This record gives sequence, structure tokens and C-alpha cells, in this order.
Amino acid sequence: MTDIQELLLSRIRDVADYPEPGVMFKDITPLLADPDAFTSLTGALAGIAADTGATKIVGLEARGFILGAPVAVHAGLGFIPVRKAGKLPGATLRQAYDLEYGSAEIEVHAEDLTSGDRILVVDDVLATGGTAEAAIRLIHRAGAEVAGVAVLMELAFLGGRGRLEPALAGAPLEAL
Ligand code: PRP
Repeated sequence: MTDIQELLLSRIRDVADYPEPGVMFKDITPLLADPDAFTSLTGALAGIAADTGATKIVGLEARGFILGAPVAVHAGLGFIPVRKAGKLPGATLRQAYDLEYGSAEIEVHAEDLTSGDRILVVDDVLATGGTAEAAIRLIHRAGAEVAGVAVLMELAFLGGRGRLEPALAGAPLEAL
């Protein structure tokens, strides 16, 4: 494990039985409150943006906004919010995806993504991969390319990487 990985891991708090019994929640608020850890994280994600040749950063509501916006600033790129449905005022593209129980929808302003763009998707956690997969679909529907997906942590036992692979079509999935 690298020094940065050790620092990041030490600032993630496990909260048992949240939000429901049997779930171990990964709380990133101690990491956000530590300027060294937060700067290391956003700097590392900005490095992935540079390595993948991204032209814009997409952040996934809500914790993907907290990480994605400073990554965009570090990398000198624009930031595009992918929001839960009903929050964006302009013309949107909307994508449904399955949750463990039921389904949800995310949206993006259609004009924010164009055919020349290479998008890096930034989020805190990859779990089942449903949210990131829906975001990739939105990006492709807008005619843009996916440069990759970059997350702080991957909950590998939930199989999100395998779910994303077809949609990524060779683009990298980086989990710090
Ligand atoms: C969490 C997390 C990811 C997503 C990962 O967001 O921040 O966006 O779930 O899960 P998946 O890989 O199974 O789709 P959540 O929907 O809880 O929203 P929040 O960031 O607003 O709390």
C-alpha cells in the first residue's frame, strides 16, 4: 500500500448498521475534514484526469460533487453535475437504473456534453456499479466519450467492476 493509500484509508470511518442493520457504512467525512488527506485525494484524482486525457469531469450527486468539483479545478477542467432526477432546470437527458429495491433516475443538462468531449466520471464509492453505469449511458447518449471512471473506493465484493466493464468498453476504472 502506498503512503497516500494508507493516509486515505486511515481517514475513512466504518459505521456499523448504517443506514440499516447489517450494513457497514464507509463514512468519508473525516477524510474531507483533513486538509492533507483531502488534497492528496483530489490531487490523485486530478492525475487520473490528466493520464486519461479527460476534457471534462462529471460528478455524481451528492458525494461525487464534493470530490469532482475540486478535481476539476486541480485539473483545469470544467465540472458537470449528474443529478438525481428533477433538480436541473434546463433540457436534460435522463437515465433510469435499478436499485436493490426499486429504481432511480439521474439527469444531466444535455448541452453540457458534446461529441468532442472525453469525460472522467468521479465518485466516492463504486458499489453495485448501477449509478456509474447509468452515468456512462448518459454520456454515450449525449455523443461524448468516456475517458474513465475514478473513485476513492471500490467495494469489490458487490461486483461493480464486472457490471461496468461492457459499458466502459476498454476505458479504465481506477479505484484509489
Ligand atoms: C452512493 C455513492 C455512489 C453510489 C454507489 O450514492 O456515493 O454514488 O451510491 O452505489 P452503486 O455503485 O451501487 O450505484 P447515494 O445514491 O447513496 O447518494 P449520496 O451520494 O447522495 O449519498
